[in-house]
Amino acid sequence: MKAASGSALPTKPCCTLNSVYLNGAFLPIEDACIPVTDRGFLFGDGVYEVIPAYGGRLFRLPHHLQRLQNSLDGIRLENPLNENQWREIFNELLQRNQAQAEPNNDQSVYLQVTRGVAAKRDHAFPDPVKPTVYATSNPMTEPDSKLLERGLAAITLEDIRWQYCNIKSITLLPNVLLRQQAVDADAAEAILVRNNLVIEGSASNIFIVHKGEILTPPNGNYMLPGITRDLVLELAAQHGIPCHETDISKEQLCSADEIWLTSSTREIVPVTVLDGQLVNDGRPGAVWKNMSRHYRDYKNAVREGKAE
Ligand SMILES: Cc1ncc(COP(=O)(O)O)c(C=O)c1O
Repeated sequence: MKAASGSALPTKPCCTLNSVYLNGAFLPIEDACIPVTDRGFLFGDGVYEVIPAYGGRLFRLPHHLQRLQNSLDGIRLENPLNENQWREIFNELLQRNQAQAEPNNDQSVYLQVTRGVAAKRDHAFPDPVKPTVYATSNPMTEPDSKLLERGLAAITLEDIRWQYCNIKSITLLPNVLLRQQAVDADAAEAILVRNNLVIEGSASNIFIVHKGEILTPPNGNYMLPGITRDLVLELAAQHGIPCHETDISKEQLCSADEIWLTSSTREIVPVTVLDGQLVNDGRPGAVWKNMSRHYRDYKNAVREGKAE
C-alpha cells in the first residue's frame, strides 16, 4: 500500500557555514571542535533541546528551558547558564544565521550540554569539570503541504528504550535503531508500545481521535513531555475540543479514527497508514485539520510578537 509517504519526512536544508556557540564563543561551525575525551562523545552523557523560532522569535522558550532544567536535574548536572543568558545566546545565533533562513526567518535552535571533558575515561562522574555547552540554529521550512494532504505511514514497534525517557538525553541509540526500522519498512515513524500501551513515536508524541475526542497518553517516565503536545492540549482546551490524557491500548490505536504525531520540527502530522493498513479512510481527518489551523494561528501570533 502506498497511500502515504514513507521516509519522505520534511527535512531541513543543511548549512555548513552557520554560526555556532561553543563554551562562551560564537564561531563558524567548521571552527567548532571539542576534545575526544568529552563525556558527551564517550558516554552520551548529556542532554539537549530543540526550540523553533518563527520570524526570528523563539517559540515557547520558557517551556523548553524548564524541560532543559528537568533534564539536567535528571542527570545531576548543574545548569551552566541562567534564562537570560540562554535567551541572549539563542537570539544572537538567530541573528547571525538569519541570512540563510530567508524569506521567513524560521529557524530551529539546537542546544546541547554535556558533563564536559574529563581526564580519565570512567563511567562515574569526574571531579567537577566545566560542562560543554553547544548551540546552533538552522533554517526551518514549513511542513510540506503535499505531505500533509497525504499523511505519513507509521509502524508499531516494541519500546526498547530505558526507564528515564522523560529526560531529553543525547543518548539516542534506541531511538535511532527504532526510526531506522521504520524507514526500512518504508514508514516515516515508529510508534512505540510498552506492555500493550501506546507511548509515543521515536521522536514525537502521539494523539488519537476516537468518536470526536482527542486522546493522548499521560506524561510519565516512559515518554518525553513534548512542548508541542502541551500546546495541542492547551489549544484543545481553549477552543472547546474534547481532549483527555489517558492510557491508549494498541487495539485502540489500530481502530482510531485519526492518528497524529507532534514535535517541535514536524508540528502536527497525520498518520494515514499504520502497519500497512489505512487509518479510517486513509486521509487526514477533520479534527486534525481544525487543530492544525489553531496551531498555525498560534505560530503566526508568535511571529507577530503577540504570543511566545
Ligand atoms: C522521543 C520524543 N518524544 C517527543 C518529542 C516531541 O517533543 P517536542 O514537541 O518538545 O519537540 C520528541 C522530539 O524530539 C522526541 O524526541
